[in-house]
Amino acid sequence: MSMRVRTHPILGELPAEETVQITVDGKSVKAIKGEMILASLLAEGIIVNRYTYKRNEPRGLFCGIGQCTDCMMVVNGKPNVRTCITPVEDGMVIETQHGFASGRK
Ligand code: FES
Repeated sequence: MSMRVRTHPILGELPAEETVQITVDGKSVKAIKGEMILASLLAEGIIVNRYTYKRNEPRGLFCGIGQCTDCMMVVNGKPNVRTCITPVEDGMVIETQHGFASGRK
């Protein structure tokens, strides 16, 4: 079930947008072309983007402007991608990041 706001009391109806397909932790998810990855995930109710290295604590949206790194995920095999400032593209494979996700100990 999508949590996307389709009807806003002031802005009105969400205009029809081109959708793309992405994969998040093996699950197929529909996203709006050009929106930030994090927005697509939030619309699907996905709020954990990574787990910390030391304490394995969950992290998700915090600043939303690319400054805090709490939204980092592995995107198309590349770790440490800040999903709040990275536009979604068709066919992207996105995975929850655990620790540094780069083999660094
Ligand atoms: S939420 Fe802070 S960098 Fe993305």
